[in-house]
Amino acid sequence: MRTPAALLADAGTAAANSYSPYSGFAVGAAVLTAAGEVVTGCNVENAAYGESICAERNAVTTMVARGWREIEAVAIVGLRAAPCWPCGACRQVLREFGCRRVIVESADGQPLSLDFEALLPHSFGPDALGN
Ligand code: THU
Repeated sequence: MRTPAALLADAGTAAANSYSPYSGFAVGAAVLTAAGEVVTGCNVENAAYGESICAERNAVTTMVARGWREIEAVAIVGLRAAPCWPCGACRQVLREFGCRRVIVESADGQPLSLDFEALLPHSFGPDALGN
């Protein structure tokens, strides 16, 4: 089982690979699956700005491609901002796969771990469609 600090370190390593020439805002995410696997992602921007993808969604789509569908926790690191909270779109995508905890770095570098429910209360999910 990965500690919050270790998962943040994984996210920081992923952030180093960020392709963010337009914003200069490098982000890394590390998803811990319910099976205990860690899958990372970074933000990847595009000259057509709207086609950029956030670090969290990059990590989640990679996780699904590798065969996992349940998220225990996600850690997020922004190299220029702490804490780096997940955007609304990423919260919804994390919700789809049952994310339970969100871990970010406090301004003084300590792991902050929150229940997912605190970030996206009263959310819409697969259960609403009977899935
Ligand atoms: N970004 C992420 O990767 N994750 C978030 O949750 C917030 C924003 C990225 C998108 C864009 O490449 C850059 O940060 C500035 O918005």
